[in-house]
Amino acid sequence: MRRGKVLFIYGGTGDLARKKLYPIIQKLMKKGKLKDLKAVYALSRGEGFPEGYLDSLDPELAKLIRFRSFDVTNKDDYKILEKEIASFPGDEVIFYLALPPHLFDHAIVHTGSVLRHFPNPRKIVIEKPFGFDLESARKLNFQLRRYFTEREIYRIDHFLGKVSIQNIISFRFSNYIFEGIWNKSFIDNVQISALETAGLEGRVSYYDRVGALRDMIQNHLLQILCFIAMEPPAVMDAERIRDEKVKVLSSIRRIRPEEVDRYAVRGSYRGYEEELGRSSNTETYACMKVYIDNFRWEGVPFYLRTGKRLKEKRTQVVITFKEVPGNFGKLLGCLPERNRIAFEIAPKNRLILSFEMMPPSGFLSCPIESRMEVCLEDEFGGEVPDAYETLMEDIFEGDQTLFIREDESELAWEIVQPVLERWSEGRPEIYEPGSYGPEGADRLIEADGRRWVIL
Ligand code: BG6
Repeated sequence: MRRGKVLFIYGGTGDLARKKLYPIIQKLMKKGKLKDLKAVYALSRGEGFPEGYLDSLDPELAKLIRFRSFDVTNKDDYKILEKEIASFPGDEVIFYLALPPHLFDHAIVHTGSVLRHFPNPRKIVIEKPFGFDLESARKLNFQLRRYFTEREIYRIDHFLGKVSIQNIISFRFSNYIFEGIWNKSFIDNVQISALETAGLEGRVSYYDRVGALRDMIQNHLLQILCFIAMEPPAVMDAERIRDEKVKVLSSIRRIRPEEVDRYAVRGSYRGYEEELGRSSNTETYACMKVYIDNFRWEGVPFYLRTGKRLKEKRTQVVITFKEVPGNFGKLLGCLPERNRIAFEIAPKNRLILSFEMMPPSGFLSCPIESRMEVCLEDEFGGEVPDAYETLMEDIFEGDQTLFIREDESELAWEIVQPVLERWSEGRPEIYEPGSYGPEGADRLIEADGRRWVIL
């Protein structure tokens, strides 16, 4: 007999829960995927859901939801939890921390203590940021390890739930034509851009404590980098795949404090401080150059950039190949473009291949940049699942492949730590909203004789 499952959501009436988690659970239920779900506890301070919210949900889900007034910082409130868990002997209990990070510690310690009295199988789910820097990430992991095993911990990086990021692995490891050129001999550089037009609507106070480097590069962009750079695992299981990512992160060259300014640039959009209502040195744009010192990638720069209020919303990985030896186009006096492969993650899920072609105007005329493009939705039809849908299903199924392991999270902090320290002083460069970020970011890449590219 399959065990029943009981979900406890801390912050159960908050934004994340209402806007994301319940709609996703509802969707999975409709697809018949959560047949074992017996109850969903919405634990939260306050009065409960806004009026009408529960009525807007499918009755099948609404009847499983039980609101309990609950303060995660108050040890006594966990008696409620004890009582509820006791009513589900043998069932799996899943704790989802949809909470601001400063409350993680309370939730982990008190939940962990309660669970010591129960034999139920358990899982704990945490949203990023996992810590604020290397030291706090270690503390958080230490705390988790006191009460849970790694097999029970699900650290969510929602980018890994995105199909076009998962497709990087599938594309690389199931096509032979690209494998031979996926290395330093053929690739000139890799760029990972996550550009956003949105500002910080309603999140300014959270964001101001965090900034672009912690918010995006430490997690999402370094995770994409791992998928681009990792070796194929010998076995396709969660541990082997994550082992390969860990090898990549361990091979990333650590930046020395005195080198930071050559490797990283930060910016803040004009008007940020007015929005915040006070002065701030938090960056709303960050870019960083990293090298992976291993056999495959030695000497190939990976440029990572992200920012708010930029010219376009686009998340793209662009792999640029080296110049053709004895370049044909140059011999003809033309201005040839490099070959490129792009994985687009937003706004569409696309794969783009760009290369040079002879136009029909004639032999020895200048080759022209041409493209082949596959859009995942158009190619395969059907609806692309929301990142959270995939991840939520994996949590219920117990598949940890797309979740961040303890060692990954700490290594990723190690990589950005020197930059965080350098940026704790001084001020970011101002950039105009609607631009592509600060001029310093252009200078960083131009110093290497390259430019930022989006396909
Ligand atoms: C989140 C960041 O993790 O990812 C946000 O905290 C960012 O600042 C968001 O806007 C981007 O995610 P997506 O899925 O909208 O590209």
